[in-house]
Amino acid sequence: MAGSAEKPNVTILATGGTIAGNAAEGTATTGYKAGALGIDVLLEAVPAIRDYAQVTGEQIAALDSKDMSDEVWLKLARRANELLAREDVDGIVITHGTDTLEETAYFLNLTVHSKKPVVITGAMRPATAISADGPMNLLNAVRLAACPQAYDRGVLVCLNDQIDSARNVTKTHTTSVDTFKSPLGPIGCMNDGHPTFYNTVDRRHAGNTEFDVMSAAKLPYVKIIYGHANDDALFVDAAVKAGAQGIVYAGTGNGSIHQDAEEALARASKAGIVVVRSTRAGSGTVIPAEQSYSDAGFLNGDSLNPQKCRILLQLALMQTTDRSRIQEMFYEY
Ligand code: SIN
Repeated sequence: MAGSAEKPNVTILATGGTIAGNAAEGTATTGYKAGALGIDVLLEAVPAIRDYAQVTGEQIAALDSKDMSDEVWLKLARRANELLAREDVDGIVITHGTDTLEETAYFLNLTVHSKKPVVITGAMRPATAISADGPMNLLNAVRLAACPQAYDRGVLVCLNDQIDSARNVTKTHTTSVDTFKSPLGPIGCMNDGHPTFYNTVDRRHAGNTEFDVMSAAKLPYVKIIYGHANDDALFVDAAVKAGAQGIVYAGTGNGSIHQDAEEALARASKAGIVVVRSTRAGSGTVIPAEQSYSDAGFLNGDSLNPQKCRILLQLALMQTTDRSRIQEMFYEY
């Protein structure tokens, strides 16, 4: 580790969220302002962090993460890459709202070109709440980012004493602190503050990816369409009309598509829009199914949820429109 002889150097990039939320009452867990408190305030609340790392904080944004944008993603990816290329930075922690945390984590997992630890954390209760979960989550995230065993594991998500890979994790509960789950299993846990790993992620991740957003101004326009009983062509046709380059269909079961939406998707695919089948089921792998899906050139989203399929498809479309190569990417990443 570079930096001081004793402690690794960890930079915290703050983006807002409930971890920086400010409520009028200590008992309030809704109706607060997300992203109201700066990184300095969060760090002051947890002096123990400095026992594990030399930390510096940078405020990248102050958002409720429902409003996350390409602009902030690109800024984060660029700053993370700049910092991680420096010898005097050993790891990064990102504080983030929980609502789209998994998306930012996966975006960075594909666009960070370093194997040094990158850990994202957040909180379900505002910083001002009784039993706020943010301080312990932040402390654990710094402990994890400062730990050599976190090297080359891809971007990690650490909340509620659990360590998950950016690829697999998803938010599963609207309000509970035990909300982040990986249908394929977590990769480790924080045992009394000590990072302990049990699994590795085989898929290509940060430090071994082909996606470069360092000079990108925006990302390709890709929409998610949610399948349901009595579905029709309306949203598919609207996405085509709006200029979508890709569509992720969050289908039923094994990425199944209502016949009326399927016709519209087949037309879109024929017109050059890349269509990826994902699932609204919450877990499992979308595998090839109907012959008509293959004939129409629809791709399989593998075990990525729809919101992560969207990110991989966006980055893939920056490289190529070749469907067989894009399909391979869904099996590699
Ligand atoms: C947000 O995602 O910014 C608000 C919700 C949260 O952080 O839990």
